[in-house]
Amino acid sequence: MIEHDVVIVGGGLAGTRAAVEIARTDPSLSIAVVAKTHPIRSHSVAAQGGMAATLKNIDPEDTWEAHAFDTVKGSDYLADQDAVEILTREAPDVVIDLEHMGVLFSRLPDGRIAQRAFGGHSHKRTCYAADKTGHAILHELVNNLRRYGVQIYDEWYVMRLILEEGQAKGLVMYRIRDRRLEVVRAKAIMFATGGYGRVYNTTSNDYASTGDGLAMTAVAGLPLEDMEFVQFHPTGLYPVGVLISEAVRGEGAYLINSEGDRFMATYAPSRMELAPRDITSRAITLEIRAGRGVHKDGSAGGPFVYLDLRHMGKEQIMSRVPFCWEEAHRLVGIDAVTEPMPVRPTVHYSMGGIPTNTDGRVRSGIGDGLVESFFAAGETACVSVHGANRLGSNSLLECVVYGKRTGAAIAQYVQGRKLPDINEQRYLTQAEQQIQELIDLPGQYRINEVRQAFQDCMTDYCGVFRTEALMREGLEKLQGIRQKAQQIYLDEKGTVWNSELVEALELQSLLIVGEMILTGALNRQESRGAHYREDFPDRNDTDFLKHTMAFYSPAGININYRPVSLTMFEPLERKY
Ligand code: FUM
Repeated sequence: MIEHDVVIVGGGLAGTRAAVEIARTDPSLSIAVVAKTHPIRSHSVAAQGGMAATLKNIDPEDTWEAHAFDTVKGSDYLADQDAVEILTREAPDVVIDLEHMGVLFSRLPDGRIAQRAFGGHSHKRTCYAADKTGHAILHELVNNLRRYGVQIYDEWYVMRLILEEGQAKGLVMYRIRDRRLEVVRAKAIMFATGGYGRVYNTTSNDYASTGDGLAMTAVAGLPLEDMEFVQFHPTGLYPVGVLISEAVRGEGAYLINSEGDRFMATYAPSRMELAPRDITSRAITLEIRAGRGVHKDGSAGGPFVYLDLRHMGKEQIMSRVPFCWEEAHRLVGIDAVTEPMPVRPTVHYSMGGIPTNTDGRVRSGIGDGLVESFFAAGETACVSVHGANRLGSNSLLECVVYGKRTGAAIAQYVQGRKLPDINEQRYLTQAEQQIQELIDLPGQYRINEVRQAFQDCMTDYCGVFRTEALMREGLEKLQGIRQKAQQIYLDEKGTVWNSELVEALELQSLLIVGEMILTGALNRQESRGAHYREDFPDRNDTDFLKHTMAFYSPAGININYRPVSLTMFEPLERKY
């Protein structure tokens, strides 16, 4: 059995930042990072626009309180305000700490870190490295893992969280290269497994974003929080869905409909293109629905709107958002210096996740109870700093602030603790059986066929606009798809780099996460942030100013609720 003091699942920003903090706090600890890709290929590497922090390099009058207010208002008042206070107060320090690690932020002419405008933020506070901010930060953090002697298990697939008597004891995982199965035990387990964009058919997320950590947690009997809040980023490049950063609008680009209008004037006149994402995504969807979208030949009534950068000029485009220019050029043949880009909303981010307290400790239920030895941070967690809608550039910040805090908490937690006892053979036998059953399935459907049907179902029945009738139909369809998922077959039976086996396991995660999203959404009979119910178009604080806590079982999902922490700001009507 493999043993470490701490095992972190996920090699993105939250996981690597936690590992660095643990190593800095107690260099004697044995720390491992396990990831199904190489850490540098974690989805954090794709983060583009930046990381918010009140450094005041452009706007001296900015304050952490203003950042906190913007975040809470952006969240449609569902964020836990104690957690937001920590996020925004600690933001400047974590940015400077990253700079000291060597992260190459873009600069002002006087050498200070540059900051730009972002949606829903009242000041220019987003620090950035052109439009490759995640890339710049993740590379430094991964370099630091090596420096601190953190053991990396890259391209290992974690199949199961071992949770016994309210304590996380270890994991079952296998090496994708040769299917070597291992049980690992540790004094603390942390999940930093990212999001689930692949639940939908159009997403900015990479292929690995299949919600495995969420599904494993749910299957272990623990709750997931606020899963109905799915962020649609307004500007996915049409038709591929990859991210065209909000930084492009932060730098001044316009959203234009088929009539040539900057239609955001109708939806958010004070913020225009820099309204929060939920509002902007709904606006684009409504324009398309009303026949003011555009077709490829430029005629009206099509499936996208334009993102127009032309007035920004070549120099600004190439120095501030070169990667977005390159994406449009490479993927759809558009030169954004001379032509507008086709865009429409794309699934981007999960506001919900594994519920944690502000030290990253995982909650065991709707009360204050905590799971022993289990921690989570980053997109997979829900400490709830984003509530019902995240502001752009607050997610890298969350990963770094809460990755660091969780690392510090873990370093303290493991002191004096013993490694847990685990019946290794029992878990190995169960995992071997699970794999063999999948390999031997005599089914009739290819994985891709089932996954596509599932992604289409989630997109059609639980998208930007939702109704009870639509979601009930979606849940019914999902039952059919789940049955089909029991009847898949794998062509690839071997042990060497069996990517079809990985996909079969990921399909199980996707289905669980999808059902959690749909069920939470059906039960929340109001509109708040990214969750918009056409049959309940208003926010309803009397009945729904509370967090959804969803408990999975194969027989169905139970929904309960937990109160919101309202320490600083009273809920107000949300207008931009
Ligand atoms: O648009 C973007 O660059 C994305 C940033 C974010 O999700 O925070």
